[in-house]
Amino acid sequence: MRKPFGVLPDGQQATLYTISQGNMIAKITDYGATLVSLIVPDPQGNLADVVLGFDDCNGYRTGDGYLGATVGRNANRVGGAAFSLNGKTVQLEANDNRNSLHSGSECYCFRLWKLEKQEESAVTFHLRSPNGDQGFPGNAEIFVRYSLEPGGVLRITYDAVSDLDTVFNLTNHSYFNLAGHDKPELAMGQILSMPARFFNADDAESIPTGELRSVAGTPMDFRTPKPIGRDIEADYDALHLQGGYDHNFEVFTDPCAILHDPVSGRTMAVSTDCPGVQFYSGNFLPGDVGKDGVVYIRRGGIALETQYYPDSVNHPEWPQPFVKAGVPYHSETKYIFQ
Ligand code: GLA
Repeated sequence: MRKPFGVLPDGQQATLYTISQGNMIAKITDYGATLVSLIVPDPQGNLADVVLGFDDCNGYRTGDGYLGATVGRNANRVGGAAFSLNGKTVQLEANDNRNSLHSGSECYCFRLWKLEKQEESAVTFHLRSPNGDQGFPGNAEIFVRYSLEPGGVLRITYDAVSDLDTVFNLTNHSYFNLAGHDKPELAMGQILSMPARFFNADDAESIPTGELRSVAGTPMDFRTPKPIGRDIEADYDALHLQGGYDHNFEVFTDPCAILHDPVSGRTMAVSTDCPGVQFYSGNFLPGDVGKDGVVYIRRGGIALETQYYPDSVNHPEWPQPFVKAGVPYHSETKYIFQ
């Protein structure tokens, strides 16, 4: 199923694709290869849309926060908006203080992707990203596939290849609220379980300092599940600096995170092949009007962005997002609902 999803300023038409499997329904637009809606049951079978989003493509174009978007070529921040690759400086756009955020204003999330294939329970989009795009070397062919699978699974698969050595670090920037996107006041009551032993300490511009800090004895410790809101106002430097949770955690186990809503009973596990997960408690959601007129207040949704560690291009000691010419990049993240 497909329907129009608004017209961009250059006259191009965006489209919204619907896929389904059992009682799960997902809606994805070619604008930014963005997850617009994800309808899942609670244990009693009551359905709710558990991701934040907008009613048409222009909401995503002008709204803040990268709701549901496919982010690349390099997700998250690059300190000083530059790094070195094969002895050459790769200069990105500084769009977040002095730094690059999500590869600048030409983020893949603001492109109209091409439909590659639509199936009943899956949809695949394709983007051609030329050599020099956003500053990155290499003509790249990029595919993102969303599929719904039995067992309550939404799987997002990323495949890409470049004709020069480059970086691939793609993620999805959905904000989840397992009570339903229209109940923003319930998001911080949701219980997070995250076995990560350490997180990246950041400076005031959210650039990692290089320190991988133990969660032990800190409000960053989710090894014992707790409501996200419980310690969010604790007197702790990392929470002050980022205005709440907005940190990369190591992916230590599979699943790397489990979110549970005590009100509806919905649970979501995140399973990924990425080394890191950025846990962001929506501290800067600006109160945009989203789907069905819902106002997405600060901390009204929870992002769990699976990816390489932020600024890993400048930290050779961490897992590296560099990909050789001609070598396929493949990454998958599953969101599993119960
Ligand atoms: C982006 C990042 C989030 C968070 C916000 C802050 O959306 O992906 O982790 O840092 O910026 O505005």
